[in-house]
Amino acid sequence: MAGRDLLSIQDFSKKDIDAVLALARRYEARGIPPHALKGNIIGSCFFEASTRTRLSFEAAAHRCGADVIGFADAAATSHAQKGENFEDTIRMIDGYVDCIVIRHPEVGAAQRAVAVATVPVINAGDGSHEHPSQTLIDLYAIQKTQGTLDGLTVALVGDLKYGRVPHSLAIALSLHPTTRQVWVAPSALLMPDDVRQQVHAAGVTVEETKSLADAIASADILLMTRVQEERFSSKKEYEQVKDVYVLQPEMLTKAKKNLRILHALPRRYEMPTSIDALPYAYYFQQARHAVAVRAALFVYLLQA
Ligand code: NCD
Repeated sequence: MAGRDLLSIQDFSKKDIDAVLALARRYEARGIPPHALKGNIIGSCFFEASTRTRLSFEAAAHRCGADVIGFADAAATSHAQKGENFEDTIRMIDGYVDCIVIRHPEVGAAQRAVAVATVPVINAGDGSHEHPSQTLIDLYAIQKTQGTLDGLTVALVGDLKYGRVPHSLAIALSLHPTTRQVWVAPSALLMPDDVRQQVHAAGVTVEETKSLADAIASADILLMTRVQEERFSSKKEYEQVKDVYVLQPEMLTKAKKNLRILHALPRRYEMPTSIDALPYAYYFQQARHAVAVRAALFVYLLQA
């Protein structure tokens, strides 16, 4: 393994990813070993709102026998409120824990944490940049439902500009060049150039379309994403695109039988609850996989 941090999904080779997914599969089949991380303390540092990510990281840590300290709302409960600079906060936490899980609204915050931390840092989402641990869950769900990560058609739908979930997944999928990516976004929410370059450099075929219907026809996986309201500079711009794609049950009549719909959640306009009862809906199972996958990630980083 290159380093012991997970800032970008690029920090993990295919071998690293396969190892974490295999460990997660073992944990789901036989249970998470309750003493695997006994004696460790995980710092759960959330400078930005989170439900699933924080709680599944913390549940994973507890299931492995680790203790957890931290904060869920940095503005109200940490020294950030008193104007302490970010590096000082991280330096101090670094002295108390064995691993830092950090979520922050700014791009590059996890990287800044690594610059002053001595313990492994896991990026749990830095602004619109990346969300690599979510990608491990997405890959786990793809492999579990399709039996493979190769030779598939994966459609990434919605806010490909500000969505850190599709950024990390597109990069990870480029390790599987026989899997075709279809990027479905309106002109205002296209995949950023840096991700585009990384995926193209890997020699992967990407198809781009504005038509969700076209993408559904050939997809094995549909990754739906929320339009990231909090990252828009104006309310007006958000209003123009917030419901650009709304997946309705009747749009799925021609879908492949094996199609599964993933979503990191929370959902807004893009996926009404009428989808939930369809056999294609997989997002709640996907969210359940988060504990085994994040437990596997902790064990992989801390026991290596
Ligand atoms: C995602 C995130 O925070 O980037 N959610 C998550 O981690 N469960 C996606 C989103 O907020 O839309």
